[in-house]
Amino acid sequence: MNLILLGPPGAGKGTQAKRLQDGYGLVQLSTGDMLRAEVASGSYLGKQAKEVMDSGGLVSDELIINMISGRIDKDDCKAGFILDGFPRTTPQAEALDSMLQDKGLTIDHVIEMTVDDDAMVTRITGRFSCSNCGAGYHDEFQKTEKDGVCDKCDGTEFTRRADDNAETVRTRLEAYHEQTAPILTYYREKGVMESVDGMALIDDVTEQLNALLG
Ligand code: AP5
Repeated sequence: MNLILLGPPGAGKGTQAKRLQDGYGLVQLSTGDMLRAEVASGSYLGKQAKEVMDSGGLVSDELIINMISGRIDKDDCKAGFILDGFPRTTPQAEALDSMLQDKGLTIDHVIEMTVDDDAMVTRITGRFSCSNCGAGYHDEFQKTEKDGVCDKCDGTEFTRRADDNAETVRTRLEAYHEQTAPILTYYREKGVMESVDGMALIDDVTEQLNALLG
């Protein structure tokens, strides 16, 4: 089963993709995570992407399409994958269609997570993750069970993303509405779009997704 999760920054794509990954044995393919790994490694690609990411803009389509195409070819994706943060522009959605056709693959579900923009700033500025295992948390909505200790690996070091500040979030939301929202129409016109209420509690969103996926 191959899925696309769509929604603005903070909609809960990453949070839910991690749950679906565990629940259905799928691989989460987050273009944001892949880019952050490139930035951390100091690679040429990472250097190209860093400035754009820090400003809240979108990295070039060509770079992203090549990166995701190579990733989908890896063996672990054969069991199925969840696209989180891709596609993000109409050229990316079109390139995905032709790349899947070439690879003999299809997308089984395209799911939009609908949310209110106003709530996204609070969600993103309160987000943090475990430096050791990457588990995601929120100061208010998804706290660790024991203060300062990761629920998953007992790690005690946490990080916050460089682009998770109020000013950059607003630029990312603008980029979403200008460059990504048109692909909602692209998938609606193909008749494949489904949606969940991303404003519900985290567990309730997971239930809605499970109901769609069966
Ligand atoms: P990326 O990493 O993809 O960031 P994003 O799209 O801005 O999405 P986020 O990760 O911020 O949001 P999310 O929906 O995953 O939210 P989360 O589940 O963490 O991209 C970063 C940058 O990389 C881009 O700006 C761009 O520069 C570049 N890039 C990436 N892909 C690209 C592409 N395809 N093309 C071009 N450039 C690209 O949830 C947020 C917080 O809210 C968490 O703390 C969580 O605990 C909490 N939360 C989640 N759900 C709920 C809920 N239901 N109720 C309450 N709190 C909740």
